[in-house]
Amino acid sequence: MSEATNPSANAALFDLTGRTAIVTGASRGLGQGFARALANAGADLVITSRDRKRLAPFEGEIRALGRRAVSLELDVRDLSSITRMAAEATAAFGHLDILVNNAGCNVRKPALDVTWDDWNLMLDTNLRGSFFVAQAVARGMVERRYGRIINISSVTSVSGYAGLGPYGASRGGIRQLTMSLADDWGKYGVTVNCLAPGWFHTEQTNALYQDPAWVEYLCERIPLKRPGEAHDLDSAVVFLAAESSRYITGQTLLVDGGISVGAVRALPSFAPVSSPISKNAPIEKEPRK
Ligand SMILES: NC(=O)c1ccc[n+]([C@@H]2O[C@H](COP(=O)([O-])OP(=O)(O)OC[C@H]3O[C@@H](n4cnc5c(N)ncnc54)[C@H](OP(=O)(O)O)[C@@H]3O)[C@@H](O)[C@H]2O)c1
Repeated sequence: MSEATNPSANAALFDLTGRTAIVTGASRGLGQGFARALANAGADLVITSRDRKRLAPFEGEIRALGRRAVSLELDVRDLSSITRMAAEATAAFGHLDILVNNAGCNVRKPALDVTWDDWNLMLDTNLRGSFFVAQAVARGMVERRYGRIINISSVTSVSGYAGLGPYGASRGGIRQLTMSLADDWGKYGVTVNCLAPGWFHTEQTNALYQDPAWVEYLCERIPLKRPGEAHDLDSAVVFLAAESSRYITGQTLLVDGGISVGAVRALPSFAPVSSPISKNAPIEKEPRK
């Protein structure tokens, strides 16, 4: 079989066996999805939370996949906590190859109601936290001349959303930071990319999904007609974490069902009157093999 048609050659492109990864904010939600996807691809995991106890069941799940897993405490608003986490993670595994800078928070409010403290909470957690975690972990990567840093941003980094001013600013900052860090650390073999999810149903967004009218409105605006599901991010995070993505840096990959294309309805209906396809028919997903 030629290499071009050899499926195992393709699988090797995304094999993370022997790699070590940190996923911050892995006590729930998207962070757990990222950690699970990396573990399934072969990586050993450092997972973090502000409260280590919250990680126990998930650490067990990662170990059950046959990977090593270490749970560490991390508050990204506290520099000494960041420094300690990076040192303990390095001590646990000897070296760190992959960082998923996922820990984050949101306060949804009309701009006129946003307080000084709301602003500081979001910017300190999302933007300042991402920078100093990347800096702490990159020191070892730079020494070893290898690293994959994946900063989690959001579709709010490229579009304006009422009620998400400070959050969007923090996410836009992460997108810009990604480009600057890519330029800074590229010469050391460290790539820095940004993964920007669209609208996913997690604890952070749960209140929104209780309102069926809002969900219908959201789905109408998403070209693929549904919110994201945790597994929709698996391929993107593994792709950016892989050694084979070595020539990609400073980029933002939006995984958002297409909502960032900014499609505004130019016709009264998506489907022509003669079309047999209902405008609300769900898009069929490829069955998993
Ligand atoms: N859900 C979406 O639709 C969506 C879309 C785009 C981007 N995002 C971003 O993707 C990331 C994950 O989203 P999610 O929906 O899974 O959020 P989530 O359910 O609220 O989880 C946030 C995670 O961040 C951790 N965290 C919060 N503050 C922290 C701090 N000061 N220090 C350390 N860790 C902290 C939390 O851990 P502990 O509380 O255990 O410490 C938790 O594990 C967030 O950055 C979010 O803003 C989400």
